[in-house]
Amino acid sequence: TTKIILDTDPGIDDAMAILFAEAHPALDLVAITTVYGNATIDNATRNALYLKQKFNFTADIAKGASKPLHRPPVGATVVVHGETGFGDLTAPDDITEQADPRPAYQYIIDTVKANPGEIILVTVGPLTNIALALEAAPEIAGLVKEVVVMGGAFGMNDHRGNVTPYAEANIHDDPHAADIVFCASWPVVIIGLDVTEQSFFTGQYLDELRDDAGEVGQFIWDVSRYYLRFYSQKVGLNGCHVHDPSAIVYVINPDLFTLREGAVRVVTDGPAEGMTIQKFDDRKYMNDEWSSMPNQRVGIAVDDQALLKLYRESL
Ligand code: BDR
Ligand code: CA
Repeated sequence: TTKIILDTDPGIDDAMAILFAEAHPALDLVAITTVYGNATIDNATRNALYLKQKFNFTADIAKGASKPLHRPPVGATVVVHGETGFGDLTAPDDITEQADPRPAYQYIIDTVKANPGEIILVTVGPLTNIALALEAAPEIAGLVKEVVVMGGAFGMNDHRGNVTPYAEANIHDDPHAADIVFCASWPVVIIGLDVTEQSFFTGQYLDELRDDAGEVGQFIWDVSRYYLRFYSQKVGLNGCHVHDPSAIVYVINPDLFTLREGAVRVVTDGPAEGMTIQKFDDRKYMNDEWSSMPNQRVGIAVDDQALLKLYRESL
């Protein structure tokens, strides 16, 4: 099995990803580390503890950053994920599960060092915790097996941002952190809107999950009602794109994705703040800075039907 730490801001599609990672036999979900984003850090952490308690996970939960490294916080995305982050649901008051005493970045450092070459970091929220971990212990770059990031939008297949015309939410929340993560010398795979918006959970697909996937299916159906209202009212679609679960799919079966290699940077301020860009040609530029940067891989296509099948069968 593959050991993963899932760094997440639960979040409706985050819950879909967490339950999927927990269900799949090829994955060992070692920990869920939380970050602000879709919800406040307190709500995001509470939501993670709620899932752990409700579904009896063994995964540790570690509480992470409450705000971006440098930019002012954007604030919880209430219109997409609701006041608590879990749509119409509110985590109960009687949660007895507790978070690890360490902050998420320290938990990540310790766990990576204790399992050299074994951990895949999967991130489906802003990249603040990962940047903090890299800053405090740069040597983890050589000890992590792979970093799989849901975030960004590179303009392939006409897909651009969802917060601004250029920026995707996870990167826009903390562009400085994302730039640190992409520029580090470790293998990063970026599963951005270019691929996540190629896969779609229809209303009917989610109804079938509810009917066939027991308590987990019912929970996903319940938590996704708010999300589907957002999609129908603001996006004009009956269903939702498959953002965060796509990163988990990549870990289970990378062959479902086509990747493009090249250095990646993030625009950290100005009108295109949070935009992700990749140098993917061999051209020599006057400014040579790009040639010395690590090559990362960016998802440009996905077998969406196989992805939907894998998700359904796992649950
Ligand atoms: C990303 O932003 C969040 O709203 C989702 O949970 C996902 O991680 C999509 O842009
Ligand atoms: Ca997320």
